[in-house]
Amino acid sequence: MKIISVVGARPNFMKVAPIHKAFIKFNIEHQVTSIQYPGSSTQHPVPSLVRRSNSAVGIQHLICHTGQHYDEKMSKVFFEDLELPKPDFYLGVGSGSHAEQTAKVMIEFEKILLNEKPNLIIVVGDVNSTIACSLTAVKLGIKVAHVEAGLRSGERKMPEEINRILTDSISDFLFVTEKSGLENLKREGVPDSNVFFVGNVMIDSLIHYLPKADKSNILYNFQLETCNYCLVTLHRPSNVDSPENVKKILALLNELSQKRKIIFPVHPRTLSVINDLNLTNNLNLNLNLNLNLILTDPIGYIDFLALTKNAELVITDSGGIQEESTYLGVQCITVRDNTERPVTVVEGTNQLIGTDLEKVKEAALKVLNGENKTGSIPELWDGHAAERIVKLLIN
Ligand code: UD1
Repeated sequence: MKIISVVGARPNFMKVAPIHKAFIKFNIEHQVTSIQYPGSSTQHPVPSLVRRSNSAVGIQHLICHTGQHYDEKMSKVFFEDLELPKPDFYLGVGSGSHAEQTAKVMIEFEKILLNEKPNLIIVVGDVNSTIACSLTAVKLGIKVAHVEAGLRSGERKMPEEINRILTDSISDFLFVTEKSGLENLKREGVPDSNVFFVGNVMIDSLIHYLPKADKSNILYNFQLETCNYCLVTLHRPSNVDSPENVKKILALLNELSQKRKIIFPVHPRTLSVINDLNLTNNLNLNLNLNLNLILTDPIGYIDFLALTKNAELVITDSGGIQEESTYLGVQCITVRDNTERPVTVVEGTNQLIGTDLEKVKEAALKVLNGENKTGSIPELWDGHAAERIVKLLIN
């Protein structure tokens, strides 16, 4: 069986890494020593079972990187941190409008599918590469597995929501991370037989790499103390595409930095807006002089995990960070009006505050004054989701 997993943007890498490892583990456990490539009648010996994906398989698991994210700090560092092999295919599509990006991925991915003729493709999450590759595959009659299926924010203006709905509607195997996903898919008429509640592959990566994160020097490098700083990530178009709003966000962070040190790894999308602002003149805040407000480049997986684990508070609009902070029991304020991951609010430490920055400030001050939300770890977020997926696919 030949399977191609797709990665495109930063949040995809930590989801595919455990799936890749689970395929390797499956092959080792089943003592696969040789493989027959499609179109060939010869059995090729597998020289070393723990070598790269495409030589270590009875299940041949290949990785296709669309190149949606291409900066070293948005992509390469994650392959290193997550011990992923170099992608078998790199489409190099880069940035563009939604239509351009999606269309370029489709054109390039179709060539790979026609050449490779996989039995199945695996897509993860909700980025443009997810819908582009699943649509390309189904049109060629190739089966699609969607990992992190069923999540719904109910906000159709969010590009990811459209990607989620469309991808789920054409997928053959839908792997769900939390119970709300089961209800959403049922409501949309997806047959139960295609839907599997398996847990959260991103949490698989987190659990696997936590010991490494504990050895990270990142807190020392930024002179941060455990449980005595805020970690901020904001990159959603709804928050950062308006320069006026970015100014307000920076003013809020400047104010909060009187209370705690703040570290804000800045996404390229947010950075381009910040760069266009003439901050010293317009905002009366000189970021270079405020040592308590650290704006820095995007940070790699292991170091970022260390920053999340040790933060007193995380302020974010990311989907994945809501889940990671819930698993780690770290206080999280989500600067969005809705979440497709309600379990992080109902069971976890996440508070959905909305985009009104006065309310964000109020909620943040409460946490910094010790008013914490207690939480628990959602069902099946146990480090074994990828193994469940591989078992189900093989069965
Ligand atoms: C994408 C995903 C979003 C995810 C986010 C994580 C979609 C619709 N959105 O948003 O769900 O949360 O990734 O980061 O797929 N850029 C660079 N270097 C890069 C990548 C991007 O400079 O390596 C800049 C480009 O100017 C680009 C902009 O960032 O136009 C946005 O990138 P894009 O991939 O379109 O979407 P994200 O905002 O990153």
